[in-house]
Amino acid sequence: MRLIQTFGAMVLLVTLFLIFFYSTLHLEITYTHRARAEDGLKNRSLWFHNPAMTTQPSKQDIFTTPQPDVHSVSVSDGFKNTITQNDAFWNRMLYSGLLNLDKGGNPFRHDSKWSRCRETNLELLQTNVHDFSSYPVLIRDFLQGMNCRSPPVLINQPNKCISAEEEGDKQTFLLFAIKSVPGNFEQRQAVRETWAREAVNQSRPKVRTVFLLGSSPQDDPDLNSLLSFEARHFGDLLQWDFHESFLNLTLKMNAFLQWTLTNCPHVSFIFSGDDDVFVNTPGLLSYLQSLEPSKSSQLYVGHVIGTASPLRDPKSKYYIPLSFYDGPYPAYAGGGGFLFSGALLQPLYSVSHVIPFFPIDDVYTGMCFMALGVSPEAHTSFQTFDIKEQDRENLCVYKNLILTHRRSPQQLIKLWKGIHSPLLTC
Ligand SMILES: *[C@@H]1O[C@H](CO)[C@@H](O)[C@H](O)[C@H]1NC(C)=O
Ligand SMILES: *[C@@H]1O[C@H](CO)[C@@H](O)[C@H](O)[C@H]1NC(C)=O
Repeated sequence: MRLIQTFGAMVLLVTLFLIFFYSTLHLEITYTHRARAEDGLKNRSLWFHNPAMTTQPSKQDIFTTPQPDVHSVSVSDGFKNTITQNDAFWNRMLYSGLLNLDKGGNPFRHDSKWSRCRETNLELLQTNVHDFSSYPVLIRDFLQGMNCRSPPVLINQPNKCISAEEEGDKQTFLLFAIKSVPGNFEQRQAVRETWAREAVNQSRPKVRTVFLLGSSPQDDPDLNSLLSFEARHFGDLLQWDFHESFLNLTLKMNAFLQWTLTNCPHVSFIFSGDDDVFVNTPGLLSYLQSLEPSKSSQLYVGHVIGTASPLRDPKSKYYIPLSFYDGPYPAYAGGGGFLFSGALLQPLYSVSHVIPFFPIDDVYTGMCFMALGVSPEAHTSFQTFDIKEQDRENLCVYKNLILTHRRSPQQLIKLWKGIHSPLLTC
């Protein structure tokens, strides 16, 4: 009897000891996790000052965000001459930012914390923009979020440019960054099967593809599990936690620049475009490979819109109120599809912290390039508007173009097969 009691007591003691031991162990694990995360955050600002670290982005760098270097930016005179100093809100914001920069400060307020970057003090906006309350809802919404720049990442591809087992250590030559929206599954699949295929081919430079997504509105069907399947299966989705909307495309472009600087900083060229364009990838690659080195580091090329001005019709998708922005637009490459050099990524990202966000993404990109002193180069093979009616069935026309707007998923597949057909004689 005594033996059984002693044994029972011993078992109880050992159990208690094990429970205690396990709970301290668990605590310790959570502590080290947290300490690592904090380390990551602390090292953020160090990251760009350490050249050894910038060359090899790795999993540990997930916590690091590239830092803009606003004080290395000098805004070109061409930009200041085109974009005048006047009473419009955006223009005032720009010039007060430039003044702050000259004084050695930060151009304008950037709240790095996403959760509290939105302007909730509407009186402040009304004081600064006298007819703010007459602006369309979307533009008012844009203005409130103008300083928000770091949306949380929902779907990431940190190894997009570094996983190169099958291709040796080839650097990514061209990155396709394709603006899409969560529901465009069919469009993305057509693009993936045709012009943006990441085909492995030793004699072809390395091409990588990412689709850029925001999030769907709350009242829409929940596509999250479909998207996470798609992301796992194809490894080419990037998604951020901001609402998909035309006026949020500037934010999308900026989030993409930030992503690329972290995850694909050595890419040679970037193609930014829509998911409903047709691209003649062989033509595009041979164009890029034919460039002189001096040109390939300063490239910004596409279908150039040279002399545009803001549309003042409130019903237009592109409406810009006069009290918001006053002046012409700089020459810019149409957002349907354009190319730029990887060497310009960091300058572009830095200058974007000096130029306030503008509601139209391709105009904004044009402004940033102009501020850097880089003018868009017109290339007649980029047709972001569309080609002549009588040419639309002519495969030889497509074979000589680089980009054509805008084609259905079925048309993309038909055209892609068509331009690769050995029977095609042009
Ligand atoms: C690889 O690329 C070259 C040049 O672009 C092309 O001629 C060849 O057919 C490709 N090979 C394969 C297997 O796709
Ligand atoms: C842009 O995204 C933010 C964050 O989700 C959202 O609050 C805002 O309404 C969006 N802007 C527009 C103009 O839709």
